[in-house]
Amino acid sequence: MAVRKLAPEELQPESFVFSPDTEAFAEQQIAKYPPGRQASAVIPLLWKAQEQAGGWLPRKAIEAVATRLDMPFIRVMEVATFYTMFNLEPVGKYFIQFCGTTPCVLRGAGDIRQVLEKRIGDQNHVTADGNFSWLEVECLGACCNAPMVQINDDYYEDLTPENFEKLLDDLAAGRPVKKGSQIGRNTSEPFEAVNTLQDPSLYDGSQIGTWRKRFEEQAQPAGTGEAAAAVASVPQEAKAAKPTAGRPIESEVADTPAERAKKGEAPVNPVDQKEAADPSRATKVEPRTEDAAKPAPQSGKSYVASPGGGATPTSPTTPNAGTPPGQSETRRDGSESKPGVVVDKDNKTS
Ligand code: FES
Repeated sequence: MAVRKLAPEELQPESFVFSPDTEAFAEQQIAKYPPGRQASAVIPLLWKAQEQAGGWLPRKAIEAVATRLDMPFIRVMEVATFYTMFNLEPVGKYFIQFCGTTPCVLRGAGDIRQVLEKRIGDQNHVTADGNFSWLEVECLGACCNAPMVQINDDYYEDLTPENFEKLLDDLAAGRPVKKGSQIGRNTSEPFEAVNTLQDPSLYDGSQIGTWRKRFEEQAQPAGTGEAAAAVASVPQEAKAAKPTAGRPIESEVADTPAERAKKGEAPVNPVDQKEAADPSRATKVEPRTEDAAKPAPQSGKSYVASPGGGATPTSPTTPNAGTPPGQSETRRDGSESKPGVVVDKDNKTS
């Protein structure tokens, strides 16, 4: 993509003021957004200003939009220079956007380009009479009717060098022109003969419920025909591609509550239930005696009291910067947090 910058100073108009029509449009667009979010209307306002200026955006028009939306000029410039829908230089009365993307090229866009170069000249060049200029753009979404161009707001499709030259002649002479397909196609119907979707039953309603009928056939015992073939093609037992790889293989587990319920038995085996109730098989827990009186093991690690927490540090938490590890009062090897490990001043543990 070419660098997008403003037109040279000699092409810039002295001023730009919103017309009553543009001002009414601006008010309508700004009203769509909450107060303070009027910048969201920047694209429609630039679009309308471009229309008022004759198909391109002079610097003064961009400034007028920035002022109207209370935006910095550079923010509006960013939008205007980013989107190729905004022309930054004057265009012809008929501004032709020529699609040069693959489907159009495969259908003869190269020939259309040659007509443009012969009749108008290079891209972004306005003819001496001010009537035409053109620009190559990416796909315009009418690939079914390729090759095509957009002239101002309308599409012209199914172009050939001949019908395109005639189209340009008619536009230049002010004669009425045909929009859309130039070969009489109705929207994007098949090119030339209609070879598909010709079965009348598609349109008389007789096919309604066809799929339901086929599903019902498949649900019946296997017979003959398509439904039977579909049933036969379904494997009766699904096999894992690699049974030993990845997920564990599920196998039936005997004596689960689900299995017992399936057999009509009580969910829990009565033998297991009896054993569970036997006090002689219960886990023995020694009663706590003298241990209960012992204080809980204390960590050698000191803490910094959180505000209002009440804990009081008993020793410095962090050695002074530059203190050799051997002289530090607090070890930092993890042993300070092990219950029952005492670290003395000489870094000996007990
Ligand atoms: S490729 Fe030309 S319209 Fe899509």
